Amino acid sequence: MFTKSAARNIFFGGGVFFFLLFLALTFDSTRDLSKRDHHEQQNLTPEVVRGKHVWEVNNCIGCHTLLGEGAYFAPELGNVYKRRGGEFIKAWIMGQPTGAPGRRQMPQFNLSAQELDDLTAFLKWTSEIDTQNWPPNIEG
Ligand code: HEC
Repeated sequence: MFTKSAARNIFFGGGVFFFLLFLALTFDSTRDLSKRDHHEQQNLTPEVVRGKHVWEVNNCIGCHTLLGEGAYFAPELGNVYKRRGGEFIKAWIMGQPTGAPGRRQMPQFNLSAQELDDLTAFLKWTSEIDTQNWPPNIEG
């Protein structure tokens, strides 16, 4: 017999059970997420901070994505340091625009050697974030 009190017990019991499950999963996610980023931001050097500034004032995100966020005109750059390396990144930026027919063009930003080093340090830093392979298409 399915009684009124059995229904009440299922309702409250289920409520309590799923609330506790929710708390446990929230706790687990919060603990796990803090392990994925750089620990205590120890790698956040002045170079990386300046590089982020260069990234922002030149609006790289207006064409590129960083860890999947941004514009889809040009390749993902969160992982570009791993894909190409620092020397390629600097040479690429200095060599723009390519003028290659039929290819999308990136402007010349006239960055100083210091700005290029800082930007590369920033892109190295982003490449070290454990994104669990996000975005799935490595060139965005
Ligand atoms: C107006 C759009 C635009 C802006 C703004 C822009 N880029 Fe690009 N970028 C491109 C395009 C388009 C390509 C790909 C060109 C090609 O493959 O021929 C590219 C390619 C690159 C690559 C090579 C990527 C790879 O996978 O090989 C790097 C590195 C790069 N950009 C860095 C930057 C940085 C750093 C900034 C900001 C200072 C920036 N870009 C701003 C359009 C842009």
